[in-house]
Amino acid sequence: MVHRPRRNRKCEPIRRLVQETRVTVDNLIYPIFITEGKGLRIPIRSMPDIFRFSPDEALREIEACLQLGLKIFAPFPHIADQLKDKFASESWREDNVYLRTIRLVKERFPEVVLVTDVAMDPYSSDGHDGLVENGEIVNDKTLEILAKMAIAQAQAGSDIIAPSDMMDGRVGYLRQALDKEGFTNVSIMSYTAKYASAFYGPFRDALDSAPRFGDKKTYQMDPANAREALLEATLDAAEGADFLMVKPALAYLDIIRLLKDTFHLPIAAYNVSGEYAMIKAAAAQQWIDGKRAMQECLLSIRRAGATAILTYFAKEFALIEKNFH
Ligand code: PBG
Repeated sequence: MVHRPRRNRKCEPIRRLVQETRVTVDNLIYPIFITEGKGLRIPIRSMPDIFRFSPDEALREIEACLQLGLKIFAPFPHIADQLKDKFASESWREDNVYLRTIRLVKERFPEVVLVTDVAMDPYSSDGHDGLVENGEIVNDKTLEILAKMAIAQAQAGSDIIAPSDMMDGRVGYLRQALDKEGFTNVSIMSYTAKYASAFYGPFRDALDSAPRFGDKKTYQMDPANAREALLEATLDAAEGADFLMVKPALAYLDIIRLLKDTFHLPIAAYNVSGEYAMIKAAAAQQWIDGKRAMQECLLSIRRAGATAILTYFAKEFALIEKNFH
């Protein structure tokens, strides 16, 4: 035999030498759930080791993560039911818990990068990402609301605006609105190919944001479609997106690869709540090795072509890396 590929696997240093893909903390964005109150760290039943933090506790959590080398965070708000309405008007109220937390974090840790969420669902009494009129999610009126939300977040200090709503034309609309207010340096990470997925369940538990009627199939994409992701990406790139995101990640690695090979923008992937919950649940039963499964999944998302990964594993991954080195 001339070729024996096993020679390059014979010991750990050689295996590392020939390793094609690595995950580092620099690739990771840590989503954190924010809720009103003080001294609160409320566990989320379907997401072991993940909490809703009151603003003061969020600061502590971020401080702990900074020590592990994580610098980029994606906060999401949990909003009390009585503050929700049809227009998600709480979302741009200057003193709401989300905007207050953004300001607190940026004051206390100016080196932190915040990726903030633009969509109506956490604040909407309908639990939809857009404005509901006669049972329909209306596109263009939603854009005006999203723009108010994005500008309020930019004013509070957001570095990257991440629209997760899947309305048509929102990247261009937000870009224009931000520029008009002088926020030309605030980036847009677009949820470009966001699929109508069963894997968002635990997130909706965390935020109490499940739709009150129907589903999200008139705006989120059909899991059957790949070419449609190219259409969405073409539009987002033309409208000025700085990152193209694929969501969920693991069942959509082909989409990550497709966008990576077709576009010049950096690709982000959202390793979503259900993907996290599955690994945690199986590991708790000792059916799989949770740590190795996590590492393998993050690696596969990188290998598929994502440079940025939003993942609930970020802190655990960083902790393991730190102990290893
Ligand atoms: C909605 C939004 C969702 C997630 C992030 N933003 C869920 C949904 O579309 O209902 C899901 C994230 C996750 O599951 O981890 N704007």
